[in-house]
Order: sequence, then structure tokens, then C-alpha cells
Amino acid sequence: MQVIVLGSAAGGGVPQWNCRCPVCRLAWSGDPRVEPRTQSSIAVSAGEHAWVLLNASPDLRAQIAATPALQPKFGERDSPIRAVVLTNGDVDHIAGLLSLRESQPFDIYGTQDTLGLIHENQVFDVVAPTLAPRHPAAFAVPFHPAPGLEMEFFTVPGKVPLWREDASLVIGEETGSTVGVTITANGRRLVYVPGCAAVTPALRERIAGADLLFFDGTLYRDDEMIAAGVGTKTGARMGHLSMSGMEGTMALLKDVPVARRVFIHINNTNPALIDGSDERRAVEAAGWAVARDGMEFSL
Ligand code: MLT
Ligand code: MN
Ligand code: ZN
Repeated sequence: MQVIVLGSAAGGGVPQWNCRCPVCRLAWSGDPRVEPRTQSSIAVSAGEHAWVLLNASPDLRAQIAATPALQPKFGERDSPIRAVVLTNGDVDHIAGLLSLRESQPFDIYGTQDTLGLIHENQVFDVVAPTLAPRHPAAFAVPFHPAPGLEMEFFTVPGKVPLWREDASLVIGEETGSTVGVTITANGRRLVYVPGCAAVTPALRERIAGADLLFFDGTLYRDDEMIAAGVGTKTGARMGHLSMSGMEGTMALLKDVPVARRVFIHINNTNPALIDGSDERRAVEAAGWAVARDGMEFSL
């Protein structure tokens, strides 16, 4: 299985268009310690010229331009993108579908909840369901979005997308609004969890023994957006675990055996984005990598 990180940042990217937090300031000034990053998505393949995108970010057009494997190669119209698999309905994970218009067939997979959001938003009909059929996938029922690739959704504590929040909001619900994906090919297993509000025993079990794990790396500290003066929300309020602390991801997954573990969906306020920072060193000392755009893995 081939894996390419198309985008490693959380919503907004790095730097974010309107942000002057300490990390974005370094990025705006071109400081080599902070590599610019696009919004989170990975591409996976188990064969020639057939790729599946895990989420479609608003930066998808630029991500394809930066990734030769995803570019058209045959005839007048062509794309190796066979399917898009959605893990939730947040803007940073679905807006890229709009860039996949132009009458190209491909398949869309998501939970009933996520596909329902797309169905309700008529603008997504620009990607006509007749050409790009939407396939609801249930928990723990395998689906095969491209040759040689088997995937399965599993429940992850999360919440509805930000743009759907109302008075009934429950953070940490385990419904179809936020999911993780297990991807297997040739006996190798990748687990993709770009958003997660809590670690449950079932989640630990899902992750254990994976050859590669991508996990929610939104914030380093739960209150870092408040501390940076750029927001009023904690990570917990946004439905994201933080990397550090007793209740953070590094601690909670410390004893879960995984061959390689990589943080993805990293918010621009996260100091682990700065090469050489104390936070980056702590992350790496704990056995984690911080994803960069263009990173490739072969499983
Ligand atoms: C999130 O990951 O919490 C969302 O992408 C937030 C957003 O929609 O900006
Ligand atoms: Mn997001
Ligand atoms: Zn910022």
C-alpha cells in the first residue's frame, strides 16, 4: 500500500489566511522552521493509477498539482482518483468535493450522517450523484473503494460539524458524525483518525497492531488557542484531544502497540509545528512524527 500525505494541517492550514499567532507569524515570514501546510487529507493506493482520497480538503486542487501520482495521464479526460472517503462533514474535509466537478466519475463513501449533510446541501450536486455515486457505509462493514483496498469505518467520540452545531450539541457522541477508517491491503493495516474527542477501550483495540496510525494532532495544549489570543475555544470544546498532558493523546496511546504513529490535522497554533521546538522534541521523544505535506509511506 502506498500512502501520500496531501495535507497535514487542520482547518485553515498553515499559515491561516487571517492569523498572526506565533506559528503563523513564523510561516508568514518564511522562517524555515515552520513548513507551510495544507488542510488534512491523505491518498492511498494498492495498485497502478488508482487512488482513494481520505477526505477532500479545500486545498485539493493545489494538492493534486503537487502530487504527480494524482494527475491525469491518459486520453483527453482522466483521473486516477477512484474514490473519496469522508470521515466527517467538517468544511476542511468536504469542501474539496466541489473541486472534483467537471463530469469525472468517482465514488463517494461516508456514513449515512455525513452523506446526509452533503445531500442536504444542494451545492454538492455540482458533483452529480449519477456520475459520482454516494455510498453509505455502516460501521464494521468492509467496503472496497479501489482494487486491493479494503476499508471499514469505526466509531470515534466526536461531534457534528462546526457549521451544524446548535443547542443540542453533544461533544464526544459516538454516532456516525465522526469516524475513523481502517484501511487494509496485502495484510498491512493503516488506521486513519483525523478527529477524535476521547480515547475509548474500543478505539485502543482498533488501533492496536496497526502498521501505521494517523491520529488527530490538532492542538498541543487544550487551551493554546486562548493562550495565543486567537480564539475562545478549548480543544475539548472543538471535539479534539490534545497531544500533551495526562489526558492527552501521547499519554493515552502510549502503551498501544503501533509500528509508526503520525500526528495529522495539526492546527496552526500548535507549537509542535516548529522544527526544533521543545514541543516538537517532546512529540518525537514519545515516538510520534508530525506529518508534513508530501510525506510518503510504503506498507
Ligand atoms: C474541526 O476540525 O474542528 C473543524 O474543521 C473546525 C472547522 O470547521 O473550522
Ligand atoms: Mn478540521
Ligand atoms: Zn495561526
